[in-house]
Formats: sequence, structure tokens, C-alpha cells
Amino acid sequence: MVTFHDEKILVGKDPPFYNCAFLGVKMCQSFNALAVLEHFFNKHPEITRVLEIGMFTGGLSMYFILRTSIVRGEYMGFEIMGERRKEAVDNIDRLGLSKSNYTVLGDDVFDQDVLDGIRRWVQRDGGCLVFCDGGNKIREFGLIAPYLKSGDFIMTHDWGKEIRDRDVADTVASAGLQEYMSEYFIDELNSYIKCFIKGGN
Ligand SMILES: C[S@@+](CC[C@H](N)C(=O)[O-])C[C@H]1O[C@@H](n2cnc3c(N)ncnc32)[C@H](O)[C@@H]1O
Repeated sequence: MVTFHDEKILVGKDPPFYNCAFLGVKMCQSFNALAVLEHFFNKHPEITRVLEIGMFTGGLSMYFILRTSIVRGEYMGFEIMGERRKEAVDNIDRLGLSKSNYTVLGDDVFDQDVLDGIRRWVQRDGGCLVFCDGGNKIREFGLIAPYLKSGDFIMTHDWGKEIRDRDVADTVASAGLQEYMSEYFIDELNSYIKCFIKGGN
């Protein structure tokens, strides 16, 4: 068991699912999320591109950007709230990385033009991970999962809280998705992240 601010247990069997930080920047995830994501990226070096829906002030975004930069990949993130986005961009810029590795946008991901751009971005060459963590995970998942290429992944945060099996069942069937590593993401580490892979390889 590891404790941190306010003596809260941040790592262990039942961690709080937010109020942790990466490189000192708050992220709306538990530290367990970083553990599962590290395991995931180590297992999947072909995943070089990450799309994050909902960045808050950029704690998790910085992790994704470092992870994609190190393999000369690409990150794209959406944060609709101007102040949060500005803070996220300031935090990310402090990493001092080439700006060609990341794009931060303030659009509403539910605008059709934006969705068309997301589809084109996801369908470019290179293994892609979509991380749904905006204001309506069910809708994000339903709209973006069909864009995945074979071997791409989609994850949603707040699994069991804001989004459940019944909310994704139709999309999982029609988009040809399979649950992935749930025993680790959910059962063992309780990260509140559910992961799916697009089949068809
Ligand atoms: C839970 S926070 C994201 C947390 C971040 N992924 C992390 O792990 O630290 C959700 C964010 O999604 C943003 N958001 C909500 N609806 C959105 C939309 N339609 N388009 C883009 N961003 C949106 C909110 O402003 C909010 O900051």
C-alpha cells in the first residue's frame, strides 16, 4: 500500500480513481491506470498514435505524449474547455518536445466535421489507441469505435460508473471489437479503464 497526499491510499486493491498526478500535473486517473497503460504499451509497440477525448489539464495527456514521442508517433487530444485546455497546453509545452508530435484541439468532438477529421486521423497508417474520457463516454465510444482499423484499440474510462456492457454491446458487435486484458485492467488493478481491440487481422 502506498499513501500520498492526505494519507489517501493511491496504490493498492481499491485506489481512488482520480486526484493522482503525473509529473506533478493532476490526472483524473488512479496510479493503477499508469501501471496498466505501461503494461499495455510495452506489450504493443505497434501502437504509436493516441487520440485522447477529454484532457482536463493534461496530466494523462503528458504521459500519452511522452509515450508516443519516444516512438516518433503522434498524439491528438481534445479539450473543449478553454481554461483547462490552456493549462494543458502550458503543461505539455514544458516537456520541451517537438510540437510536430502532438496536436491539442478545442473542438466539440460531437460536431460532424470534427468526427470526420477524427475518422481520417484514426485511419492513417500506424497502430492507434483511442481513449474515451470526455463528457459522454457512451456516445464517444459509439461514434468513434467504428473508425478503428484492424488491430487498433479503444479504451474508455469510468467503466462501471458512466459506461457499462449494455451501453457498448451493439457497437462491440457491429464494429467487430473484442474485450482485451480485462482481467488486468479491471479485475486485478481496478483501473476503471475498459479496453477493446478491433479484430480482423
Ligand atoms: C474526466 S476529464 C478528462 C481527464 C483526463 N483524460 C485525465 O485522465 O486526466 C473530461 C474532460 O472532457 C472535456 N469534455 C467534455 N465534453 C467534451 C467534448 N464534447 N469535446 C471535447 N472535450 C470534452 C471536459 O471539459 C473535461 O475536462
